[in-house]
Parts: sequence; C-alpha cells; structure tokens
Amino acid sequence: MVYNLSVMKILAIESSCDETAAAVVEDGLLKSNIVTSQLDLHRKYGGVFPELASRQHLAKIIPVIREVLEKAQIKLEAIDLFATTFGPGLIGSLLVGVETAKTLSFILKKPLLPINHLEGHIYANFVGVNFKSQIPNSKQNSSRQSPVACRFPAIVLIVSGGHTMLVLMKNHLQYKILGETLDDAAGEAFDKAAKILDLGYPGGPAIEKAAKNAKVAKNAKIVLPRPMLNSKDFDFSFSGLKTALLYQARAIKNLKQSDKLEFAKEFQDAIVQVLVTKTIRAATKYGVQTILLSGGVAANKLLREKLAKECKKFKFPLSIPEFQYCTDNAAMIATAAYFRTQYGRIPPIDNWKKVQAISNAKLN
Ligand code: KG4
Ligand code: ZN
Repeated sequence: MVYNLSVMKILAIESSCDETAAAVVEDGLLKSNIVTSQLDLHRKYGGVFPELASRQHLAKIIPVIREVLEKAQIKLEAIDLFATTFGPGLIGSLLVGVETAKTLSFILKKPLLPINHLEGHIYANFVGVNFKSQIPNSKQNSSRQSPVACRFPAIVLIVSGGHTMLVLMKNHLQYKILGETLDDAAGEAFDKAAKILDLGYPGGPAIEKAAKNAKVAKNAKIVLPRPMLNSKDFDFSFSGLKTALLYQARAIKNLKQSDKLEFAKEFQDAIVQVLVTKTIRAATKYGVQTILLSGGVAANKLLREKLAKECKKFKFPLSIPEFQYCTDNAAMIATAAYFRTQYGRIPPIDNWKKVQAISNAKLN
C-alpha cells in the first residue's frame, strides 16, 4: 500500500493508567483530543486501584473513540494508521487500549503502531508541530509556554507518576537514558507526601496548592534533604525525602494546617531544586541545543518557572508542553506516531499480530 505521508490521518489510544484517551492527528495537526479521567473513582483509595481502572477503561474506550472521531469529523474508515500506548503502565489498563487498537487494525486493515508511553510524554512537546518546519503551529499552540524549534542534541527531563529520567536525544526517536530514579518517581513522591500530610488526591496538584498558601517565616524550622543533589551521576532518589517528611511531620504534636502547608512548600522546593540542578548539569555536560520537559509533574508551576529561569541563565532553549499535554493524553501518543511515520517507520498491515502490552516496557 502507498501512503501519502504528509496527509496521514492517525487515531491514537492511551490507556496506560487512569485516563482513557483518544486523539486524531492529521498531517501533524491535532484534529481532536479526548481525555476522560478516573480521578473521582480512585480518590477514596488515595491512589489508582488497578482493577477498577481497567474496568473503567473497558466502559469508556468505545465512547471516547466515537467522540474523538465525531469531533475530528473523520470517519473510522478514513483513518490511515492506528497507534496505541503499549507500555509501560498498569497491565490491565494497557490491555484495554492495546486490544481495542489491534481489533480496529485487524478489521479496518490499517497498520498499528505501538508507542512507548515515555516517548509519548516526550512528544507532548511536539503536539501541533509540523515535521518539516519543526516549529509549532502558532494558531494551535497559542498557549504553549515556550515555542522553540527543537535542535539536537537535546536533554529531556521526564517526570511522571511512574518515572523520573534524564534522557539524551541525538535526534528524533533516538534515546540514551543518562539517569533515572533509584526508587520513587517524582510524581509518586508528590502523591505520597500529600497522603502523609492528608492534603488530598492527586498529590501533585494538592502539594502545589498547599505550597502556594504557605506562609514561611524567615527562620523556617522545616528543612528537608535534597537527595543526590551533588552526586556525580544523573540518577535520582526521592524515597528518603518522603521518609524524612514522614518522620518530621510525626515528630510534631498536633500538626497544624499551617505546618502542613510549610511542609508542602519545603517538599516541593526540594524536588524542584534537585530536578532543575541535575537537568542543567546534564545539559552542560552534553552541550545540548535544547532542553525538553515532559510528564505529569511538568504541570508543576514552580518546576516550569525555575527550569525556565535556569535555562535563561545558562542560555539553553527550553520547551515545555502546554498544561493539558503534560498529564496522560493521547495527543502526545498520536504526535509520537506522526513523527515515527515521518521517519518511514510505518509497520506492515498485519503488525497487530505482534503488538503486545508490556507493563515494564523500556524506552529505546
Ligand atoms: O504523566 P502522568 O499523568 O502519569 C504517569 O505516566 O505516571 O503523571 C501523573 C503524576 C502524578 O504523580 C501527579 O501527582 C503528578 O503527575 N502531577 C503533578 C502535578 N500535576 C500532576 N506533580 C506536581 N505538580 C503538579 N501540578
Ligand atoms: Zn504518563
């Protein structure tokens, strides 16, 4: 089959955790993007309940696909290529998206491109970016924080609920992992800290809000560690920080709301300082041309601001996705698939036979 690469219509599915999402991209432009969140369902458990997540994906996946096609005003039969997140993620959740995409590919006789979820997060930076110009479409990306044309080599900081990584990209789709978390991911740490402080769910936005309301006195009594800030490698560790928070909070009798806010601020400051410092250090060591931020924690305003400030100081162009593309969505998956097609990576029509959900899939 001969494809007209430039007008390829891609339908992508994302169901790796607790968001059921679908998006349509045509010629690199986002036609429609639907994300249904399961936050309310999991709130009472204080975290994602895997069995409930996969059941909810099953209930939502077809309505979400129907809605995304309706919004894009594209018929299912007109789709040229299907894409789906195959991992990493919760296996029961992944299976719903993967099996749905395989069925569509089989019935409609269109190829299926499996996309790594972390690659998707990276390509959140390229939603609405035309491959040839590499420059964001100004109409579509008017609220994009920093519309930079990405030049390589680039450093990507991926910070999500499951991963914290520094990745060196020599070009599109080429990844070398420089370092990652040895224990908890940054998002996971935010979630656990919010649980310890009983600040609500999901933890990241809850800590951010509490930190904003903190009134820290000059002689602040709460000091948390900055784990691995000065280690020579590019790895991270956030589990000790969480434990330090737990012990210090426990040591205070009758923990007041003002104490909780102060803890939240110090906790956020610690994570952001480590992330920003190590990212700039990696960028300097590898002499990169661009820094990319990605993943759910990229929605954190302090992280966005501090990284932007340091990038300006050290003259690294910085790309940050729009808020809506930081946390899980299918626009980023469709965009990653679009870039893959532009590099000629279109799989055969019966590729669905080989596609499998892999809960611990590696970025390579
Ligand atoms: O990328 P994502 O949607 O899912 C995974 O792939 O894990 O990231 C979710 C994570 C959660 O841990 C959540 O608390 C965190 O991103 N997060 C934030 C913020 N918004 C979401 N962390 C800090 N500040 C935020 N504003
Ligand atoms: Zn994610």
